[in-house]
Amino acid sequence: MRQPGTTPLHVDLRRYLRETDEDRDLTRVICEIADASKYIINAIRTGDLGMAGTSNLYGEAQLALDVLSDRIIRKRLVHSGVVACIASEESGEVQQIDKDCDHKYSVAYDPLDGSSLVDVNLAVGTIVSIYKGCDVLRPGREQVAAMYILYGPRTTLVYSTGRGVHEFAMNSLMEYTLNHENLRMKPGPAKIYSPGGQRSKWTEGTERFAQELEGSGAKLRYSGGFVPDINQVLIKRNGVFMYPHLQDAPEGKLRVLYELNPMAFLLEQAGGAASTGRGRILDLQPDRIDMRAPIFIGSRESVEQAERCIAEAG
Ligand code: AHG
Ligand code: MN
Ligand code: MN
Repeated sequence: MRQPGTTPLHVDLRRYLRETDEDRDLTRVICEIADASKYIINAIRTGDLGMAGTSNLYGEAQLALDVLSDRIIRKRLVHSGVVACIASEESGEVQQIDKDCDHKYSVAYDPLDGSSLVDVNLAVGTIVSIYKGCDVLRPGREQVAAMYILYGPRTTLVYSTGRGVHEFAMNSLMEYTLNHENLRMKPGPAKIYSPGGQRSKWTEGTERFAQELEGSGAKLRYSGGFVPDINQVLIKRNGVFMYPHLQDAPEGKLRVLYELNPMAFLLEQAGGAASTGRGRILDLQPDRIDMRAPIFIGSRESVEQAERCIAEAG
């Protein structure tokens, strides 16, 4: 079996998964989502940006793109033959497709994160968390894979099945070919930081952390899109993203199942860290599919610094 780190660049995603001996059915899930992204790209570029006339369980008016992207992914997963359950940000409950929990996978996904950024032409993404079996309400440390697709100036796909984090870029034939293998975070503190939420609502520990970052010369980089903001930290192999607990929203904004867990899995696989500010994201036990949590994620040294600031502030 070829070890990650020894593959020539520009190998396509399906061949890479085969040559690193990935499980055949897990490969199927990853490739189905990669294929679905081609239709999502088309929908983003040409689709109807109006309202779909429906709303998701948060009462957020759904842009047609959210609904369309969810439908594109859902259809492919349902027909893949290897998926037992689906949990999407755009629907309120887990959809059971197959009862064979022993041999199939369950997928929690955010079909289009940052969809409200499309009409201002900023980058958006798809985020996916994959478990073996039927239960998605499990700690993120039990994921067998996580991935995201970033619809930016280039379309890139990043995944890990627990053996390193690998980035693929879409070529002119709309194939994903290997661009970076085994991405690893550099040691040392964050030189860029990505602070979410209204600063006036931060708690004292977060404020203290941000001031220490600024005091050390860290530069602010925040697009408002979780996927591009995280991708910047990963590809620069340095930095910290945070969407902290707020005075009026102690759980923060981002959802554990299909936003925090997949990104925490990927960043830990790259040698980074992901914390709620008081504990590891991947150790959270979700009690509902829309559970939220605060997040500090990226360079391990800075995530630990955030935890110290929060502990000291009480
Ligand atoms: P979604 O579009 O799936 O609802 O997620 C949007 C999230 C995430 O992309 C980003 O990190 C966060 O919203 C930004 O929130 P603020 O606008 O409050 O900064
Ligand atoms: Mn989202
Ligand atoms: Mn979304």
